[in-house]
Amino acid sequence: MTPRSVLNRPRGTTATGLGPYPPARMQNLKGLILSGGAGTRLRPITHTSAKQLVPVANKPVLFYGIEALVAAGVTEIGIVIAPETGGEIREAVGDGSALGASVTYIPQEAPLGLAHAVLTAEEFLGDSPFVMYLGDNLLRDGITDLVAAFREHEPEALIMLTRVPEPQHYGVAELDGNRVVRLVEKPSEPPSDLALVGVYMFKPSVFAAAKAIDPSPRGELEITDTIQRLIDEGAKVEHHLVKGWWKDTGQLADMLEANRLVLEDIVPVNDGELIDSTVEGRVRIAAGARVERTAIRGPAVIGAGARIADAYIGPYTAIGEGCELVGSEIEHSILLRGAKVRNLASRMEASLLGRDVSVTSSDGLPKTIRMMVGDSSELTLP
Ligand code: G1P
Repeated sequence: MTPRSVLNRPRGTTATGLGPYPPARMQNLKGLILSGGAGTRLRPITHTSAKQLVPVANKPVLFYGIEALVAAGVTEIGIVIAPETGGEIREAVGDGSALGASVTYIPQEAPLGLAHAVLTAEEFLGDSPFVMYLGDNLLRDGITDLVAAFREHEPEALIMLTRVPEPQHYGVAELDGNRVVRLVEKPSEPPSDLALVGVYMFKPSVFAAAKAIDPSPRGELEITDTIQRLIDEGAKVEHHLVKGWWKDTGQLADMLEANRLVLEDIVPVNDGELIDSTVEGRVRIAAGARVERTAIRGPAVIGAGARIADAYIGPYTAIGEGCELVGSEIEHSILLRGAKVRNLASRMEASLLGRDVSVTSSDGLPKTIRMMVGDSSELTLP
């Protein structure tokens, strides 16, 4: 039985009356970022690189997630990694201290589902409540509100939802008033347009639920089925509606869109060298970049050491570190580190070029196309 002294105590105060405190169990919230997955829809980039490290406005997608957790006061973070890309993720994030986090790596031997990843992290998570964040998700307004709601209401699980035009591609929630009554993974006939965003909050009861479910038709232990299990057991599952935009950057169009949305909010800074060039709108130029006889129309970012000459850079373009852009026009595109674009006859748009990719126009005749292109590449030529 609850002692009367506790019942009479005003919410959010301690027995000593020393005032507001998060309930003890909520103090040690941990973070779990899932950064495995094959990234098949972003091939060929993901043949050689983790999808979570593809840069958005010149910063890896994964870093936005870590920063969102840290901003919400969650600094003890486990990152679940896959054998193929784990090394690269470790190298990029290190111990997390540069981002204000303390990171532990948790290898997941095979991509057997989001709930399987949670079970793989059971030892790291222990009896802490935690935020699970899918490493390729981006949320404009972060997760501070979500974490605050979880601390305040202490549900067994808290999910994030947003309205989408094509809910069949996501986990979908059915609500009854404020109550979450049903969750279905990628239903052919969605019960609503409310998609599950890739950020979830759980208490340790999630482990038993994840152990109790069967693999889905795609052969994975689904987190969606795990939360449904909690609902079926009568657990309190709450939802939170996303306010700003949300992007799952799993494919090219989404990646470009995320780049566009993040660039909309950049703060203009010029640390580079501008020679006979014009800059309109919000443009960030990093130190060591050199821009000659070029028109830049932001929002755009240009990475350190990039060389730009006789070019046009249009809105929503992110040019990575050490890239070269000469005698060419580009917009709404992402160039990864060291990519080179020279003397193109047509404007390049809606493109994603991998590291050290070179795109050049042939000189003289015959006017031919010459290529050395990796597996699963996509080219659209005029
Ligand atoms: C996963 C979840 C899905 C959720 C989505 C959000 O899908 O299974 O419920 O809506 O993330 O990004 P996946 O990316 O594994 O297809």
